[in-house]
Amino acid sequence: MNKDCEQVLFVTFAKDGLYQIQCSGLVPGPGHVCCTLIVGQEKCLLVDNGIGDDDFDDFPPELVPLMAGKELICAATHGHLDHVGGSKWFDSIWVMPQDNHLVKSTFGSEYDEKAGLIAGKTRVLPLEDGQIFDLGGRSVRAIATPGHTWGSCCFYDDRAEIMLTGDALNRHVMYQCEMPPVPLRVCAQGLENLLTYPFDLFLGGHHGEPFAREFVSRMVKLIRSFDIEKAPPYKREGMPENIRNFHVGRGYGDPEYVSIIVNADYLEDYLK
Ligand SMILES: [Fe+2]
Repeated sequence: MNKDCEQVLFVTFAKDGLYQIQCSGLVPGPGHVCCTLIVGQEKCLLVDNGIGDDDFDDFPPELVPLMAGKELICAATHGHLDHVGGSKWFDSIWVMPQDNHLVKSTFGSEYDEKAGLIAGKTRVLPLEDGQIFDLGGRSVRAIATPGHTWGSCCFYDDRAEIMLTGDALNRHVMYQCEMPPVPLRVCAQGLENLLTYPFDLFLGGHHGEPFAREFVSRMVKLIRSFDIEKAPPYKREGMPENIRNFHVGRGYGDPEYVSIIVNADYLEDYLK
């Protein structure tokens, strides 16, 4: 991950009081690191908080007056570094407990699991499937979508009618890097369940702009047609040896591109 040292937090997409914000850092994909602010009448919810290089005292100026006097809640789509790395800016962070070990690997000795505290100040709170954040005039629901990690979830905002998918679903790649991995059928079920909610657009955790609902079905279809024989090697520095990329389309620049990347050493677990 390369930090772009000139990066500041800025809004890349807005709808009905929901703001996609680009943070510092780049991830393979290619993709940026993003978080999302949802502004209610009484409270605000920040979903994800970047890799830890951003100054959350310095929100985009157009958002500051909207947030004034309102409690700011922070929750994460999962426990990876590029989604919880900025947690120290906040009093607490809601994360599904299945991902606590990832929070641990992000913060190391700074995270006291027993006390549930990062750096002695940020409380790690157990996010539950179906948990609702009532922000005043709108509510946001956490929806478990295990796949990318066991504790991955999406957030549905009922005012903007947008689904926030974190890394459970990005435009180009869904990478299951948990070992043992979540079975593919569980992953597909979780994503298919998202379609029971009314939304036309979803925002992934690494793209500034939203994508169409239709892409969810395409990803589910791809997962259900998984065939290791048709998944070429995926080589990238720092990755294990036997990573494969099952995909449709030619590559990231192709609008048709959709892919799932798996570790073929754990094939049996994926196919359970
Ligand atoms: Fe992730």
